[in-house]
Amino acid sequence: MSVKVAVITGAARRVGAALVRQFHQQGYNVLLHYRHSKTDADQLAAELNALRADSVITLQADLLQSSSIQDIAECVENTWQRCDVLVNNASAFYPRKLADCSEDDWNTLVGSNLKAPFFLIQALAGLLKQHHGSVINIVDISAERAREFYSLYCMAKAGNAMMTQALSLELAPEVRVNGIAPGAILWPENDDGEEVSNPDRLQAIPLKRLGGTQSICETVDFLIHSASYITGEIIKVDGGQSVK
Ligand SMILES: NC(=O)c1ccc[n+]([C@@H]2O[C@H](COP(=O)([O-])OP(=O)(O)OC[C@H]3O[C@@H](n4cnc5c(N)ncnc54)[C@H](OP(=O)(O)O)[C@@H]3O)[C@@H](O)[C@H]2O)c1
Repeated sequence: MSVKVAVITGAARRVGAALVRQFHQQGYNVLLHYRHSKTDADQLAAELNALRADSVITLQADLLQSSSIQDIAECVENTWQRCDVLVNNASAFYPRKLADCSEDDWNTLVGSNLKAPFFLIQALAGLLKQHHGSVINIVDISAERAREFYSLYCMAKAGNAMMTQALSLELAPEVRVNGIAPGAILWPENDDGEEVSNPDRLQAIPLKRLGGTQSICETVDFLIHSASYITGEIIKVDGGQSVK
């Protein structure tokens, strides 16, 4: 039987890179998609390919370009002819006041957080069905709890959450489609919405700390490998933040 394959978007750094390491450690071949982070992507792939030859391939693509979706699907088909896991992780995240929102902002935030994940699932659905695969969409607790000045991001993630439910019906029984809604996992790197990385924010979190990449990795692992009767579910990983 051939080796299982995971496709992870936005995977050169941070949460995506941690997921690449985890799937690789679990014996998967991995398609590591990135957009700008070529150096990180190449370093990570080289490190993992040194452990197991030809187990990670990198693919550069801006998911706002429609052709990117087909490029990813063709790469998986041509390289491994199978896909067991798709993690829609890539995401643009920044604040915009309503008065300042442009069509470019709409395209960037809705394109990366909703449109691209949808068409990537569509493009990989055939391969995912063949081996009873799983999709994990990385949502956000902001899909349910509006955050001021992040309307486009929140709207896109809310659509992503509904996509998770709707496509879990359409792709059953062969493919399970689940989501993870993180709270504060890592501070954003380009934080022009100053309140987001304010350490005081930790006080609003019952567990009083960031989740870290491990919190997402262990939930992905649970959904993929230990939750065979769960589909259409979105698990909050937020240290209890949304309970308050
Ligand atoms: N970090 C948190 O605390 C937190 C909280 C709630 C939800 N989340 C969600 O969890 C996921 C991972 O979070 P993160 O903080 O690790 O993400 P991140 O660093 O903000 O973004 C992940 C990657 O997305 C890629 N990306 C953005 N726009 C793209 C585009 N148009 N085309 C292709 N790739 C694009 C970037 O790739 P390049 O670097 O290669 O350009 C980036 O490295 C995201 O879906 C995020 O919304 C995170």
